[in-house]
Amino acid sequence: MSNNQDPAMSPSKVGASDKKLLRALRGELQKTPPIWLMRQAGRYLPEYREVRASTKGFLDLCFTPEKACEVTLQPIRRYGFDAAILFSDILVIPWALGQGLQFVEGEGPKLDALEGDSALADLADPTKAGDALSAVCETVSKLSATLPPETTLIGFAGAPWTVATYMIEGGSSRDFMKTKIWAYRNPESFARLMDIIVEATVSYLSAQVKAGAEAIQLFDSWAGTLDSASFTRWVTAPNRAIVDRVRALHPDIPIIGFPRAAGMNLYGYVDAVGVDAVSLDQMLPLDLIRHTVQPKIPVQGNLDPVALLTGGQTLDASIDAIMDSLSHGPFIFNLGHGIIKETPPEHVTQLVERVRAF
Ligand code: CP3
Repeated sequence: MSNNQDPAMSPSKVGASDKKLLRALRGELQKTPPIWLMRQAGRYLPEYREVRASTKGFLDLCFTPEKACEVTLQPIRRYGFDAAILFSDILVIPWALGQGLQFVEGEGPKLDALEGDSALADLADPTKAGDALSAVCETVSKLSATLPPETTLIGFAGAPWTVATYMIEGGSSRDFMKTKIWAYRNPESFARLMDIIVEATVSYLSAQVKAGAEAIQLFDSWAGTLDSASFTRWVTAPNRAIVDRVRALHPDIPIIGFPRAAGMNLYGYVDAVGVDAVSLDQMLPLDLIRHTVQPKIPVQGNLDPVALLTGGQTLDASIDAIMDSLSHGPFIFNLGHGIIKETPPEHVTQLVERVRAF
C-alpha cells in the first residue's frame, strides 16, 4: 500500500497509485473523498447535446472513439471529477452478441427480444465480444492517453441479470415479468443465457483493462427486483463469476459492484461477490451501512439524484448527511443512481464544491 507523505505533490506528479479514487478503493482514508457521478456525461450538459446532435444516433456516438472520448472528457473539464467513466452503454453486450438494438428518440432502447431457449443458439460467440467492441476499447486507449494525471479511468459493464432483462423484455420494463417467468420456469436455459452474458462481459472487460481502464464498475441496476433466493442465484453468483474471472486475468484491477435496490440482500452480495467496493443506492440507511458494510469494504454513494435536481438547501442538507455518516471511513462520493437529464449543471458545481470544502 502506498504511503506518499509529500504534501507538495502537484497534480502533474501524481502517479497511478496516488490517484484519489484508487486510494479510496484500496481502503485509504483521505481528507476529502474522491467524487464522480454515475451518468456524469449526458443530456443534462449542453456540450453533450451538441456532440450528440452531430451523430446518427446514440450507438453511433458510442462507436465513434473521437466523439465518445470528447463526451467522456466534458464533465471532467467542467467539474474536475476524480474519475472519468468511459462513455458507452451496458447494452453494447447484447449488440455484440448479435441482437438487434436501436435507441429510439424519447423512448429509450429497443431490442429484438429473445423468444425462449431456441433463440440462444442464434447468439454470436461470447468469447469474441471484446473484439466486436474494439471501437469502444479504442475510446478507452484515447482516454488513457488524454486524461489529466490525477483522474482515474473507469471502465464498466452491466451485470448479467440487468443485461438479461433488456435482452428478454426487448427494452425497459416496469415489472420484468417475461424475464422473471423465464428464470423461474426454466432455470436451466436461463442459466445458459447468464453464462453467455458472463462470458461476453469477461471478454469485454478484459479488453477495456488491456486498453487502459484503471477500475471497473458492474451495474446491476435491476438487482432489486428478485426474491432473496433468486437474488443469490442470478445477482450474487454471476457477479462473483465475473469478478473471479476478471481477477484471474488482471489481478490488480479494482472492481466496484452496484447491486441497486438490493436492500438486505446487499449483505450476502458484499460477503460473496468479492468486489473491492460497493456502490449504494439512496434507499439504504446510512448509519446501518456505516456500521455493517463500510468496516468490510469501501462504499460509494448515495445522493438521491432528485436531491441533486432540486438543488438549494435540500441538496446541501442531503450532502451533509452523507458526509457526516460515511466520510469517516473509506468512501467515494457519488449518486444513488444516474443523473437525471433535467438536472441544472450549476447544481453539480454546488455539489462538488460542498464535498471538497467539507
Ligand atoms: O456518464 C456515464 O455514466 C457513462 C455512460 C453510461 C451511459 N449509460 C450513457 C447513456 C453508462 C455507465 C450507462 C449505463 C446504463 N445504461 C445502465 C446502468 C445504469 C443505470 O442507469 O441504471 C442502464 C440500465 C443503461 C441502459 C440505457 N441506456 C437506457 C435504459 C437508456 C435510455 C434511457 C435514458 O436515460 O435515456 C440508455 C441511453 C443512454 N445511455 C444515454 C446515455 C447518455 C442517453 C441516450 C442519448 O443521449 O440519447
